[in-house]
Amino acid sequence: MAIEAGNTRAVWIETFGGPEVVQVKALPVPAPASDEVVVRVAVASINPVDWKTAEGKYPPMGADKLPFVLGRDLAGTIETVGSESGEWAVGDRVCAFIGPDRGAQGERVVVRTSELAKVPDGVDIEVAGALPLAAMTAWQGLFDHGGLEAGQRVLIHGGAGGVGHLAVQFARWKGATVFATASERDLDFVRALGADTAIDYAKQRFEDIATDLDMVFDTQGGETQARSFPTLRKGGILVSTLEPDEKKAAEFGIRTVPRWHADPDAAELEQVLGLIADGQVRVEIAKRFPLDDIREAQRFAREEHPRGKVLLDLAE
Ligand SMILES: NC(=O)c1ccc[n+]([C@@H]2O[C@H](COP(=O)([O-])OP(=O)(O)OC[C@H]3O[C@@H](n4cnc5c(N)ncnc54)[C@H](OP(=O)(O)O)[C@@H]3O)[C@@H](O)[C@H]2O)c1
Repeated sequence: MAIEAGNTRAVWIETFGGPEVVQVKALPVPAPASDEVVVRVAVASINPVDWKTAEGKYPPMGADKLPFVLGRDLAGTIETVGSESGEWAVGDRVCAFIGPDRGAQGERVVVRTSELAKVPDGVDIEVAGALPLAAMTAWQGLFDHGGLEAGQRVLIHGGAGGVGHLAVQFARWKGATVFATASERDLDFVRALGADTAIDYAKQRFEDIATDLDMVFDTQGGETQARSFPTLRKGGILVSTLEPDEKKAAEFGIRTVPRWHADPDAAELEQVLGLIADGQVRVEIAKRFPLDDIREAQRFAREEHPRGKVLLDLAE
């Protein structure tokens, strides 16, 4: 990646730590390599991996990678194209889930052409920016790792969260019977997304309601995961976005997927964008923050129990 004259702002960390290490920094405007483009970002999304990374708790981004820009997904328009960027052109509306080796929360971000997805007409750019990481996690967890099929029974934990609210809709679209846990104020929301049964995780015991399951999609880990094993039929599968307890799963005759991270997959992302363009899936956006309020955006996403996704506004 070469450097062009001028500055562009991004969310930047130089050391690991709490919110105090997260800053906005002016960086040189990047230029794309031959198979890359520069995206003028409109919105980037906030994900739990952002603060886990800033705290030094996301192994792919160790101390040897510091300093770097935070963020994994974005949407905007192509501003510059590399010499071998194929059909991609300046002005194209795109979104992307990018590899961990570069950050998405900047005004201008270099993206590999292999990571780009075209945003269909009629899909808002903010919806496209809220989608990539959460959608790939839900899609790959349910289908690529879990093999969910029509007619199966699935319990989705955290059904109103960034990943969960998409997982509920994908599972419903596939034709599964969907149980979802959420807090009381989100029960109608998860029902409206397509959950057949919404369970208040604070007041109800999900294991008394969701039984004989083919799959649990776990976004919580810990006690919630531990209590989930008996809800599965023998040979059922627990797919966790966190660490699965493989020993406990084996005791119950349950299959698990070893610790995995969602991967950029532009073809899958375009498939999801197609479902959104067709009105079959929607993205809930809880709030949008200006770049200068990045610390508040992270705090809000972490502490205020938002429904769906939180966005960082990077438009001029
Ligand atoms: N492996 C991967 O590639 C990958 C990718 C993305 C995310 N993740 C991980 O997956 C987790 C979820 O991510 P996210 O973006 O969906 O986070 P999120 O937007 O914060 O959603 C979490 C949801 O969990 C709900 N919740 C809290 N306590 C619960 C409980 N005891 N039972 C059921 N639901 C509960 C929350 O509801 P309330 O707000 O109402 O309490 C919230 O809706 C995070 O830990 C993240 O790091 C992993």
